[in-house]
Amino acid sequence: MADPASRSILVTLDAEDDIAGFRKEARRLLAERVPPDRVVWRVAGSERDLFGAEPARRASKAEVSLPRAAVELAQAAAHHSDPGRWPLLYTFLHRSLGEKALADNPADPLVRRLRQMEKAVRRDAHKMHAFVRFKEVEDPGGGPSRYIAWFEPDHHIVEREAPFFIRRFANMHWAIVTPRRSIRWEDGQLRAGPGGRREDVPQDDAFDEAWRAYYASIFNPARVKVSAMTAEMPRKYWRNLPEARLIPEMIETASARVATMAANALADEERGIAEAAPRRMAAPVAMPAIRALVRSCTNCPLHGPATQAVPGEGPADARLFLVGEQPGDMEDLEGRPFVGPAGQVLNQALEQAGLDRERAYLTNAVKHFKFELRGKRRLHRSPSAENVDACSEWLLAEHQAVAPAVTVTLGATALRGLLGKSVPLARVRGTQLALPSGGALIPTFHPSYLLRLQDEGARRIEEGKFLSDLRRARELLAA
Ligand code: URA
Repeated sequence: MADPASRSILVTLDAEDDIAGFRKEARRLLAERVPPDRVVWRVAGSERDLFGAEPARRASKAEVSLPRAAVELAQAAAHHSDPGRWPLLYTFLHRSLGEKALADNPADPLVRRLRQMEKAVRRDAHKMHAFVRFKEVEDPGGGPSRYIAWFEPDHHIVEREAPFFIRRFANMHWAIVTPRRSIRWEDGQLRAGPGGRREDVPQDDAFDEAWRAYYASIFNPARVKVSAMTAEMPRKYWRNLPEARLIPEMIETASARVATMAANALADEERGIAEAAPRRMAAPVAMPAIRALVRSCTNCPLHGPATQAVPGEGPADARLFLVGEQPGDMEDLEGRPFVGPAGQVLNQALEQAGLDRERAYLTNAVKHFKFELRGKRRLHRSPSAENVDACSEWLLAEHQAVAPAVTVTLGATALRGLLGKSVPLARVRGTQLALPSGGALIPTFHPSYLLRLQDEGARRIEEGKFLSDLRRARELLAA
């Protein structure tokens, strides 16, 4: 009779992506120190030959202690789509019980294999963040619209990446459908379910035109490298990307456009304005597209900890354009600019200067809240030049779409965001500059500077200057 200790143990997972099931079974087997060569891993419904293996017994209370790096590597690699990964993962975890630094040994062939899998999963997640495009589905009953996207990941990443999309689109109702799984976010609840079909997801919506306009305007023909471009945006994603329709034509016309750009740059230099001109898009992009792009922005690390991006608000044809620094704590939670204490100071000053906030377009140089956690409090931190520059394309797109007669920058960060370079506020405050785009620019203080001034006399003086800058804006608007 076969020795029970040498008989194979059959473990059946519910599905190809039953990672939770694998984790549970692996813990139980590791607790009993079952060697990898005794375990047969199978997925329910698969065709593997299991003859002679005995079904796994449930229940074991023994604990296992694994190095954190090993758990993290196994967790990431478990999302890979290789159906043969379960025995590899179990072997790795079993070895990690004794070899505590195994996960950090790049010379080990098994570790190398798992690291490759981890990298492939990470890359797939990155593609998902970049290439998911939601289509709007209006509610016939007049309720909020829903947004639905089709995506084809290489690996089992859909549920794993849900938190990324929840952070980005917390206030929307949305679903991401893939061939194997789908996720749905509605009223603050995430639900996962089976996959779907591409045909069931709307293929075109009003945003698509806007996406195409945006993409065409940021496309730099001087930088076009077809191989790099197709590596970054593999052709398999093209059919789901509205902007991809433009790519072949853009590549074809790139060299002619580079020649035109070079000629224009020369002409600009001759006119002496190249230095002062902020980076602009070739053509204005419609405001709904800008808002959608801002909400999904990952240009810099600030998007991670923030609740949401805060795009500007106000009429798209406003004649007055006000730029602040970045959303604060309240703005981050509400998703609207200038609704906290600095907003109150601003509202009061606008009113005193005879300017109507409702008729102005209000935005920030940086669209995500930058903060430092102190206990439960989130303390404001100033954005770096990199943060401002990473965000400036949104500010410039908003500015270009609104094309205001008068722009008021509140503080040095707003000025940098608009001009694309640092200019000492003390040098230009109190003056009026002509923007290359045609409107007037009035650089002034940030309202929170006034809030911070302790000395009553100094505050009065600075408030007076702030008011006189805003009054000058009103005069220009009236002229
Ligand atoms: N400070 C800013 O600069 N912008 C806001 O939206 C709020 C506070």
